[in-house]
Amino acid sequence: MKVFVAGASGAIGTRLVPQLLDRGHEVIGTATSPESAEHVSAPGAEAIVLDLLDARAVREAVLAARPDAIVHEATALANLTDFKHFDRSFAQTNRLRTEGTDALIAAAREAGVRRFVAQSYASARYVREGGAVKSEDDPLDSNVPEAARESGEAMAYLDRAVPEAGGIILRYGVFYGEPDDVLVETVRKRLWPIIGEGGGVTSFIHLEDAAAATVLALEHEGPAIYNVVDDEPAPAREWLPEVARIVGAKQPRRFPAWLARLFAGEAVVMMGTESRGASNAKAKRELGWALRYPSWRQGFAALYAKPAAPPSARRSVPAHAER
Ligand SMILES: NC(=O)c1ccc[n+]([C@@H]2O[C@H](COP(=O)([O-])OP(=O)(O)OC[C@H]3O[C@@H](n4cnc5c(N)ncnc54)[C@H](OP(=O)(O)O)[C@@H]3O)[C@@H](O)[C@H]2O)c1
Repeated sequence: MKVFVAGASGAIGTRLVPQLLDRGHEVIGTATSPESAEHVSAPGAEAIVLDLLDARAVREAVLAARPDAIVHEATALANLTDFKHFDRSFAQTNRLRTEGTDALIAAAREAGVRRFVAQSYASARYVREGGAVKSEDDPLDSNVPEAARESGEAMAYLDRAVPEAGGIILRYGVFYGEPDDVLVETVRKRLWPIIGEGGGVTSFIHLEDAAAATVLALEHEGPAIYNVVDDEPAPAREWLPEVARIVGAKQPRRFPAWLARLFAGEAVVMMGTESRGASNAKAKRELGWALRYPSWRQGFAALYAKPAAPPSARRSVPAHAER
């Protein structure tokens, strides 16, 4: 197939493009600058510079490429640090998820593109009542914290528009797998606390596993929605201490919810205390997807484990001096 990947130079795109090429597909991938386009051309794809918010340019690019399939992986989340003003931080991504999706769907229709797959999100999306782990059939949270309401609506729009057009929505878990993973750095610096009882459940996914599911989804008929998450959704009180242990950091601090709300805002408190995780049963069953890292425990350990210090280094202070 000829696959058009919008947002091919990002965290997921750079994992997806080589996997598509390995599978024998021809790939045209977009980036927003000639510099980032090099991440697309390096593995052997054709790279083009495209702003997804320029609907006319999107139309021209898709009509020129005449792909069999389109994958929408464009977000604008690089350097994201402010989760307190959630909607402000996600404003450009929200536009990519609404206007960008509309532009791609319109161009796909005109060019007769048969397959359409788009990036959505699973963790902290589902209704905050009942069981800790939700399937695609469960309702989404209808009471998104005020600061993240526009972001929730943008994702809900994407989740509706793509299946209505016959496409597939992939609700990815929280990505990890970058060598300089922001979450890992934050845990290392002890800046990610357990909030309240730490009951908020997170679903993680290794970037390579997310890319593998995306390749399989492209070879599948839509419309459909799949959670693309690992086998082990976990509450913050479980995953945070374990990730801290793996990366050799001090154990996380504990903040009461009222204090975390002041510093980090309502959306972060919700994620840390009440959010639900997602089940991957449907993606495994229908896509035949097998995970290389079925649990974040293995994935984080494989990637970020701090090597044990050699015996001499471990005891740098003479035993008698410690007394
Ligand atoms: N599920 C998740 O947990 C999740 C999902 C997405 C991102 N993230 C995280 O967010 C961080 C940043 O993500 P990222 O590295 O993928 O970067 P990003 O800034 O979110 O960019 C993603 C892709 O979208 C493209 N893009 C940005 N603006 C665009 C526009 N107006 N038109 C067309 N394409 C556009 C980017 O191109 P350029 O490279 O040229 O900017 C890139 O190819 C990473 O740590 C990632 O893991 C997490």
